[in-house]
Amino acid sequence: MWLTCSSVGRKFIMAITGACLVLFLTFHCLMNAVCIIWPEAYNTICEFLGANWYALIASVGLAVLFILHICYALWLTVQNRKARGNVRYAIEHRPASVEWSSKNMLVLGIVVLAFLVVHMIQFWSKMQLVEILGSHGTLPPAAGTLFIQEAFSQVWTPIVYLIAFIALWFHLQHGFWSMFQSVGWDNTAWIPRLKKIGNCWVSIVIALFVAQAIVFTVKAHEGYYKTNPELRAQYKALLAPAFTESFGPDAAQAVELAPYDQISGQIRQMAENFNSEQAQVYNANNPQFEPQKQTLNAAVALFDYLEEGETETAEENPLQMVQPQ
Ligand code: HEM
Repeated sequence: MWLTCSSVGRKFIMAITGACLVLFLTFHCLMNAVCIIWPEAYNTICEFLGANWYALIASVGLAVLFILHICYALWLTVQNRKARGNVRYAIEHRPASVEWSSKNMLVLGIVVLAFLVVHMIQFWSKMQLVEILGSHGTLPPAAGTLFIQEAFSQVWTPIVYLIAFIALWFHLQHGFWSMFQSVGWDNTAWIPRLKKIGNCWVSIVIALFVAQAIVFTVKAHEGYYKTNPELRAQYKALLAPAFTESFGPDAAQAVELAPYDQISGQIRQMAENFNSEQAQVYNANNPQFEPQKQTLNAAVALFDYLEEGETETAEENPLQMVQPQ
């Protein structure tokens, strides 16, 4: 087949997958920008993407793009070195940044890949993967802002991200240059212009990622994503489906509608009752008791995380109707 058997076909695959990955990065940095302008809307998008079939298809498509891009890059490098030794292009008029990147593509690729592994552990494994597996962590998988809080409150995260963004910038500079060069499109008047537009584009995307990493770091260190009242109201509302399942729609509605401080104090009190020895004995034969207790304990774990370091307040009980028998 032309795409796999011929060298031009393989370069064509590199160019197409590379262009799609740049489009993904553009979408990704715009989505991060939403998180800065309107964090609640960002969480709503995370919830919408979640583990729904359309998001899963997109994620699989993205993984295929990454794998094809990496495998073909390795294949072409080996093939080029065999054919020409270390001289990889017939035409050698490259800008200085492309010249440098071209010689260091392997190191740049390893840095970007290492970043991706760390990044997937910090975000994807705790969001989409948790939903796919149906497991439960302390933080609701749709609360993207809380995973940003977690990641960027670590001192090393912005350092690792900045190194990766620099490597990615050089990688993409080379990528745009070689995309046209390797398929032989270099002699027309508009190709140099397209290369300039492409390089400006990736520079803007990387500059946005850098700015976002700085904003996320500052806000995470202020504890903004844990303490912001609108975000807290949203995190609390994310508990509603679990309350519908274990306590019914009335309790879920109370969780959704009551103010955060009130519901947090109340759920803590209920959890204490449910965890008491007396409640365990009385409810030994009640099949609903365990799932209810788990829902309450999961909610308390979230409140503990959000309120870490704050003093406790006793609140009025909007969930009086739900008590262990
Ligand atoms: C400030 C920088 C960045 C932040 C805050 C960030 C944040 C996130 C978050 C929150 C997710 C999970 C979204 C979800 O599953 O709904 C995610 C997924 C992802 N990110 Fe990033 N990201 C950043 C930069 C990057 C860069 C530079 C790359 C690529 C080199 C990248 C590649 C990915 C990939 C491949 C996924 C998985 C997408 C999927 O689930 O299909 N990210 N990122």
